[in-house]
Amino acid sequence: MKSTSGNSGAQKKKMQGYVGFSNYPNQVHRRSVKRGFNFTLMVVGESGIGKSTLINTLFDSKIFSDREEMPPSAEPIKGVDVTSMSADIQENGVKLRLTVVDTPGFGDSINNEDAWQPILENIESRFDAYLAQENRVNRSKISDNRIDAVIYFIKPTGHCLRAIDIEFMKRLHTKVNLIPIVAKADTLTARELEQFKAKILADINYHGIQIFKPVSDEFDDPETVTDNREILSKIPFAVIGSEKHVERPDGSMVRGRRYPWGIIEVENEAHNDFIKLRQMLLRTHMEELKDSTDMVLYENYRTQKLLSMGHVQDNNVFREFNPLVQLEEERRAHEAKMQKMEAEMTAVFQQKVHEKEAKLKQSEEELYARHKEMKTVLEKQRGELEEKKKRAEANVRPVTPMEQHATKGKKKNIFSGF
Ligand code: GTP
Repeated sequence: MKSTSGNSGAQKKKMQGYVGFSNYPNQVHRRSVKRGFNFTLMVVGESGIGKSTLINTLFDSKIFSDREEMPPSAEPIKGVDVTSMSADIQENGVKLRLTVVDTPGFGDSINNEDAWQPILENIESRFDAYLAQENRVNRSKISDNRIDAVIYFIKPTGHCLRAIDIEFMKRLHTKVNLIPIVAKADTLTARELEQFKAKILADINYHGIQIFKPVSDEFDDPETVTDNREILSKIPFAVIGSEKHVERPDGSMVRGRRYPWGIIEVENEAHNDFIKLRQMLLRTHMEELKDSTDMVLYENYRTQKLLSMGHVQDNNVFREFNPLVQLEEERRAHEAKMQKMEAEMTAVFQQKVHEKEAKLKQSEEELYARHKEMKTVLEKQRGELEEKKKRAEANVRPVTPMEQHATKGKKKNIFSGF
């Protein structure tokens, strides 16, 4: 057999006839349609900026209907909350499980310095939940709640980005696909909008903020390349939302907003960029957003997380999480800990023995000293007694024969008594 050349080891061969694998994309299509899709979208912007209206307009459904029916709360929310709602929607037989994550309270406080924090924590906790599932032994049912895109609503001030906008985007741009939009674009004139968009882009570039942008590659057909360029030229999208339909002068009904000077149409590219936003988000780049979340943003987060947990990266190939390796590492750590404990116990024991020995030696010395002292006292007493004895003997007079005789007689008397 002839060996193939090149690194990949693959040669280009011309097919003689039809075998059928060109039908593979259709198989994937059928399987995907059967399963349905998930899409998780987060909306961030201050209260009343038009988040619910835009989501309902985008999906042409009352996604936020439940919330609208809720009575307004007496007290404003303290801090930022993160809530989510899901809806199963269907279009031409394709099922989509849409989850919209709302962030009520963002930008509504007097001090909005840390408004980004709970949102970042929520995004990271979703990554953590996914990572935990990936590391499970059984990975057949992984539920993916990661945020695929964040629509960030910029207030139509006409000036430049506010501190809260810059801070939020700077903190989150490495964790999510950021889609900044100018909300309620109908409140600015076309010229104001153009200038405002330019200022926003300049601020984004100046602060090194990465936003989601469609990019074309060599595999894209010319039509896709043109579409992508057009979408790119509209970023940041200036949009209007409306859940109402209004009557045009020709009598037709369109989604839009009515003003004394005329109507503004949501789905009119001459009036705003809603069409381009919807095209990118739902029609052409939904899969790219999901891929970017999975392969770039989550992958970066995962790498950083595992590295911070002490995992090592060798030869640019990241060592996969392996429960056996982890068990072995834990066993080694446990052994080292036991050895350390044992060494500490031995040291304590030796010190105690040392102390006991020193104590014994000290009492031995004390005993010896007492013994010596007593011996000296006894010696002294013996010397004194010897002295006394000598003196007593020196004082005794020799006995005369008469006295000896008298003593004998006395002795006889004594014994005769028995
Ligand atoms: P919260 O629910 O408080 O967070 O507000 P929200 O951001 O969801 O705003 P919502 O969509 O409820 O809109 C608030 C008001 O703004 C409503 O009266 C909408 O009709 C109006 N509105 C929404 N979108 C637009 C828009 O594009 N232009 C104008 N002029 N008004 C809009």
